[in-house]
Amino acid sequence: MGSILHTILIIFCSFFVPLAFCLVSLLLIKMIESCKRKEPLPEKLPLPPGSMGWPLIGETFQLYSQHPNNFFATRQQRHGEICKTHLLGYPCAMLASPEAARFVLVTHSHLFKPTYPRSKERLIGPSALFFHHGSYHTNLRKLVRASLSPFSVRRLIPAIDAASSSTLHSWNGHILPSFRAFKNLSFDIGILTIFGEHFVEHLGKTELRQNYFILDKGYNSFPNCIPGTLYSKAMNARKRIGGILREVVKERRVVHGGMKNFQKDLLSCLMEWRDDKGEKLSDEQISDNIIGVLFAAQDTTASALTWVVKYLHDHPKILEAVKAEQMAVYELNGGGSRPLEWAQSRSMSLTHRVILESLRMASIISFTFREAVADVEYKGYRIPKGWKVMPLFRNIHHNPEFFPDPHKFDISRFDASPKSNTFLPFGNGVHSCPGNELAKLQMLIFIHHLVTKYRFEVVGSNSEVEYCPFPVPKHGLPVRLWSVADEDGGRA
Ligand code: HEM
Repeated sequence: MGSILHTILIIFCSFFVPLAFCLVSLLLIKMIESCKRKEPLPEKLPLPPGSMGWPLIGETFQLYSQHPNNFFATRQQRHGEICKTHLLGYPCAMLASPEAARFVLVTHSHLFKPTYPRSKERLIGPSALFFHHGSYHTNLRKLVRASLSPFSVRRLIPAIDAASSSTLHSWNGHILPSFRAFKNLSFDIGILTIFGEHFVEHLGKTELRQNYFILDKGYNSFPNCIPGTLYSKAMNARKRIGGILREVVKERRVVHGGMKNFQKDLLSCLMEWRDDKGEKLSDEQISDNIIGVLFAAQDTTASALTWVVKYLHDHPKILEAVKAEQMAVYELNGGGSRPLEWAQSRSMSLTHRVILESLRMASIISFTFREAVADVEYKGYRIPKGWKVMPLFRNIHHNPEFFPDPHKFDISRFDASPKSNTFLPFGNGVHSCPGNELAKLQMLIFIHHLVTKYRFEVVGSNSEVEYCPFPVPKHGLPVRLWSVADEDGGRA
């Protein structure tokens, strides 16, 4: 009996006493730590100020019943740089300062992942770059960035030149909605970027275009599987696009026996890619990323270019200055007989400032969405795990503190670089736009041809805005366009 008691005592002393000692020490350390902490633990922090609206529907009706810019601006005025709301079934934190945008997109980007509705992921393809976070995204992004770098896009100049001339040529003498014309142009340039000049007609360029536009039309429609609806048509078009792209990939593999002889277009980069274990991308992953890039490139660039044309039209003095800058290049190129050069596109500083100011004014991507992957503390507030987080680019671009008299079109704002994180038309951080150089190049080249060879006027009122879903002047900005050569010929 005595020996049993002795054994129990030994076990107790050798196991439970050290354990108790450890626990007490841990408790003490925690107490000291929490005394030292000036701020309470994240779960004790208050949520950001603002209203969550009605149960379930939140403030969704308020967002849709007024101009979205007013919705965000009034809340920013009331609550400051961070406030909460509830939209489309999700609690959200809206962030309207450069620091907050930097926090979410750059310095603490690991705490926020991209978030899109499943219905949109299904349409584009779940492996598209911008749905992802982490190593798959990082590796793929390197590749996409490389194929859209200034070094890579400069080889596209002759083709962009030709595509812009052809767009203007078919516009000549007609009234066309600019946005529609620019959607077609951006699609063609997207195809060139992805497939180089090897995407020949028999491989289904026309079918790809037709199906892509059906997909595009259904992207913002109500998701359902009822036959005949925009969404189900878009899903069917998506399947056909997958088939076309599989054929294109097969053709490149078989006919050309690899991609070694190709210039580095995006498709060859995607096909050559291997991960750390030597695994290549599947045909589905390649398709998803091709559609993803086409999608990211098309409406954004088309909308931006539509706004540039509108602002040029509304500011005749600026238009004259742009014309003077472009005519000098035109003359140097023998009256347009030689193609534009990369160095010339880099020297169009006034036109470049027009593009930057148009991007600021129009702020076509007004905000973006992320989702908090953990409870996050920002400036004394708690953003709970699972909340949507919205850096509001437009509010930052239209804040008079950073851009005085923000609703005035003033290109001199860009004589010097804006303060960091105040100008974010292409986002910032790990998901920032890899296509920004291409988008600017496309706009510069188009403007060059427009102002050196054509005259144009906006038809009808252009003060109202519609959302497609990017903001675009009403009816896509109908524009009448005629060539200077015809005008001069007519006068003679
Ligand atoms: C004026 C035209 C454009 C604008 C304003 C624009 C704007 C943006 C913005 C703001 C983002 C970041 C979104 C976020 O953080 O959630 C983004 C991402 C992206 N953009 Fe653009 N973009 C334009 C043109 C293009 C073009 C021409 C391409 C490709 C050819 C492109 C490809 C992409 C891709 C692939 C992403 C996703 C990047 C990632 O998630 O890592 N964009 N764009």
